[in-house]
Amino acid sequence: MQYLANAKPKGAAIPSGLQDLLLAVVNTCTALSDEVAQGALIGLLGSAGSGNVQGEVQQKLDIIANDQLIAGVKDCKALAGLASEEMELPLPVQGTGDYLLLFDPLDGSSNIDVNVSIGTIFSILKKQAPQAPLQTADFLLSGRHQVAAGYVVYGPQTTMALTLGDGVVMFTLNQATGEFVLIHDAVTIAHSTKEFAINMSNMRHWAEPVRRYVEECLAGTSGTRDKDFNMRWIASMVADVHRVLSRGGVFMYPWDQREPHKPGKLRLMYEANPMSFLVEQAGGASINGTKVIMDLQPTDLHERVSVMLGSKDEIDRLQQYHS
Ligand code: AHG
Ligand code: MN
Ligand code: MN
Repeated sequence: MQYLANAKPKGAAIPSGLQDLLLAVVNTCTALSDEVAQGALIGLLGSAGSGNVQGEVQQKLDIIANDQLIAGVKDCKALAGLASEEMELPLPVQGTGDYLLLFDPLDGSSNIDVNVSIGTIFSILKKQAPQAPLQTADFLLSGRHQVAAGYVVYGPQTTMALTLGDGVVMFTLNQATGEFVLIHDAVTIAHSTKEFAINMSNMRHWAEPVRRYVEECLAGTSGTRDKDFNMRWIASMVADVHRVLSRGGVFMYPWDQREPHKPGKLRLMYEANPMSFLVEQAGGASINGTKVIMDLQPTDLHERVSVMLGSKDEIDRLQQYHS
């Protein structure tokens, strides 16, 4: 991928170790894109009949994507270890480098079998004590420590969004050549929007500030807002966030009363943090209600978080309602 060799985020070339690691992730996602496109033809659909550490049923593709990502990056010299939604513990690797990779190998599991967009989300951190043996605690850094983050969405097109902390760039996979081609060099999210995304079936379980916000959106100009809103919910965070990066909007998966002890459904380290990094870098905002997600100090690799992200004016409003 020529871009990685030529790009100069914040005026400096991307360190070669980070380039290698990103390239390994991109190449694996390119292969996954091909496989996803074949689906039933290569026996990819359906449940694996197992569960992950979060107690969720695993689909065949969850496990295949996880295994392929591990195989794709494990020989990167710059990589010290990786962690995944599908593995309870981090995996140390052979490399002598100081990068840590976290990923959601397959986001949108409920959409695999119905041919709706799914994707891969990744986050790269710098290990604070490069020489010391790898521990889970090494991964427990706030989103501010990310040096890169991105996703690949396997949809009608396979598209990647990437940030290295200096804006967001987007690429579409040329299926004929296997190359990701730059399609946007400065993705921005407009501050104002008329579109929101939330699973409305949970409405009766929401906290008051979220209920108020969504009720006002639904009321539109007949209520307190000066515009009418539209709603979308794909149920693949990767595709919903891709829409927000593409044309603005608000995406919410808030805490709700179904499982009151859980802070939310989505995972902080490999879903919320990388997406928050992308959204902030595109001029949007991302909060858990009261706090900025990238400032949260994680305490567990698989911890969950309430997520509200997207167009700044709406996230500001949501934060006001929570304060
Ligand atoms: P995953 O497939 O990695 O477990 O993540 C699924 C997540 C996220 O992608 C999506 O926004 C959300 O689950 C959808 O949840 P609902 O089915 O509750 O709407
Ligand atoms: Mn996910
Ligand atoms: Mn997943």
